[in-house]
Amino acid sequence: MKNQARFPEGFFWGGAIAASQAEGAWNIDGKGMSVADVAMYKPDIDIKDYVKQWHVGPEDIENAMNADDDAMFPKRRGIDFYHKYKEDIALFKELGFRTLRLSIAWTRIFPNGIEESPNEKGLQFYEDLFTELRKNDIEPLVTLSHYEMPLYLVNNYDGWVSREVVDMFVRYARVCFERYKGLVRYWLTFNEIDSVFRHPFTTVGVVEEKYSDKKEAETAIYQALHHQFVASALATRYCHQVIPGSQIGCMVTKTLTYPESCNPDDIILAQRDNRNNNVYTDVQVLGEYPRHLLQYFRKNKMDIRMEEGDEAILKQYTVDFISFSYYMSMVQSINAEQREKVGGNLITGVKNPYLPISDWGWQVDPKGLRVSLIDLYDRYRKPLWIVENGIGSFDKLEEDGTIIDDYRIDYFRSHFEEIANAIEEGVECMGYTSWACIDIVSASTSQMSKRYGFIYVDADDLGNGTYRRLRKKSFEWYKKVIKTNGSDL
Ligand code: BG6
Repeated sequence: MKNQARFPEGFFWGGAIAASQAEGAWNIDGKGMSVADVAMYKPDIDIKDYVKQWHVGPEDIENAMNADDDAMFPKRRGIDFYHKYKEDIALFKELGFRTLRLSIAWTRIFPNGIEESPNEKGLQFYEDLFTELRKNDIEPLVTLSHYEMPLYLVNNYDGWVSREVVDMFVRYARVCFERYKGLVRYWLTFNEIDSVFRHPFTTVGVVEEKYSDKKEAETAIYQALHHQFVASALATRYCHQVIPGSQIGCMVTKTLTYPESCNPDDIILAQRDNRNNNVYTDVQVLGEYPRHLLQYFRKNKMDIRMEEGDEAILKQYTVDFISFSYYMSMVQSINAEQREKVGGNLITGVKNPYLPISDWGWQVDPKGLRVSLIDLYDRYRKPLWIVENGIGSFDKLEEDGTIIDDYRIDYFRSHFEEIANAIEEGVECMGYTSWACIDIVSASTSQMSKRYGFIYVDADDLGNGTYRRLRKKSFEWYKKVIKTNGSDL
């Protein structure tokens, strides 16, 4: 469908991946063990049961550390991006990418997080990788922490609950800024910082079983989150200091919630969820906690330790832009008990009868992306960058080596239409990086068979396969979209 160019000149079209889901090489060149390396593939658990899929308890950690076989730990092998990145970047170049969002594995730079000096082999790997991107005219957009904190800090420091982890992270961030200042201009701090409550182990290293009850665990998670907020603000400060002209953003999951009806009670429920989703951007963009959250701490006698100076740090070092992931919308209802439910990477919610769902039960809602863009822009007046959006599907590799993924093309087309509509309505949008531009291991279920890419990777859930890269039908389509700057969808 041909349209007039509706995307701004210089729009950052591209794709996104994360180190722990793509690189593999989990114990090579001095890399330490991360929280991702203990994530198990759980074929016996329903793929829609996100709580159980994500959960990692003390015994799981113990077993994973002692496992003598990697088969059930797919993130340890990823898609071997560590060794194949040149081949993959050549494909991204062919797609016409202007940017690639990727992350640095903290454990390649500081294997346990506590070291005084960084691991040179890890630093060199990313220097080579970013150089290769630049050689191909692809702007790196780098996340400092994408679900891959050092496992050592979980086992010995209670993860981000410990204040010391702030300094360790800031040291890591500064080393990255210093080393890559000539290569990387765009940075993100914590991937989906709001996901601390959805999967606390992977995000802040909180092992819930260590806490005597729900409230204690919740307090610990808020404490850890506070530390991440401070660390993110300090990273923002050093990024600007070390790399003049750089831009650094926060990264949140946009969890748009609709009321089921115009019943004011439904509206209040939906508003509560949307307000909670705004907490993370409020702190990182406006530089302060919203009053309702501080009130919640007081009312529930949650003692979140904030050091002197934290408030000023949050206020002073706010982000340059807002990046976010968008996969689905949710519905709230006072009659939730009686309603059919759907899952997804968010919490389970009421099914929206107007929306189709993906193979994994995620509600597909392109218009929700338009609403999200407008909501975020009107609230914060900061440039936005959609850094994750896509559909996880079962793809079929045909005998002739083709993959006919028309459903993926439909998904992206409808979402691009809505981004264009939002831009027409005055939203400032810097770019779009699809998740994931090449098939990688799923974050939640550790499956390979949950595929998002324009590029098929020949590997199964247990790691069998040639790891050959194949262009899907959507590959040619996305290439055309980028070439025409979104005017030919
Ligand atoms: C986001 C994460 O929540 O969703 C990614 O930032 C993740 O790491 C993506 O891969 C899709 O989720 P999943 O579980 O399908 O891989």
